Amino acid sequence: MLIAGNWKMYKWPSETAAFCGGLWERLAGTSGVDVVICPPYTSLAEAVRPFDRTDVAVYAQNVHWAEEGAFTGEISTRMLLDLGVDGSLVGHSERRQHFGESDETVARRTVAALEAGLRVIACVGESEEEREAGQTELVLRVQVETLADAVGAHEHLAVAYEPVWAIGTGKTATPEQAQEAHAFIRSLLDVPLLYGGSVKPENADELLAQPDVDGALVGGASLDVESFAAICEAAARIRS
Ligand code: 13P
Repeated sequence: MLIAGNWKMYKWPSETAAFCGGLWERLAGTSGVDVVICPPYTSLAEAVRPFDRTDVAVYAQNVHWAEEGAFTGEISTRMLLDLGVDGSLVGHSERRQHFGESDETVARRTVAALEAGLRVIACVGESEEEREAGQTELVLRVQVETLADAVGAHEHLAVAYEPVWAIGTGKTATPEQAQEAHAFIRSLLDVPLLYGGSVKPENADELLAQPDVDGALVGGASLDVESFAAICEAAARIRS
């Protein structure tokens, strides 16, 4: 089980150390779950320091495909590795929606990150309109096959299924909807599959109990030590 917290554009560096200390204390004694936090770039160093030599991994929220170069505003694999960062999210729907990320650029970022030795959680998911139009599988197929063609079932790759209509809306996919989408994704690319979209301590048990759900990518509920730790504990219970 893998539980990842995507902080999005929340928490400045001065808040990060306190959060990490609190989380580490709170999770002492919890086993059987891999925990990842994904702070904004400016808080990565603050997160890497307290979690050095612990089992909590620190990922960025995006990474560029070039090692260095004239790419204003981007961050490279080498920069993340030099900081001690373990991996990166790639292709989050907010990047796709607001910043022009495409399946092709997601694949390029994924390939480069994996080749550099970073771990990757690549995000896929359909919008509300696409689901209502009966296009969920079509959309997932295109997104996942682009990744599968580029890297295959790489041992450092995980995929997060995040239906866009469930992100930050409080509208969680039902456990059945999550399971159905995950089974479909697994038929195309057999890597660990995380569910994301309004995961909270109250619904984590049911979602994580689905056979093809191998973990969660948590947004809002990962910003609070208590609720994030409660989701990590739910994951530990299920696989113990
Ligand atoms: P919420 O958990 O806030 O819905 O966000 C999900 C998400 O986008 C995680 O990457």
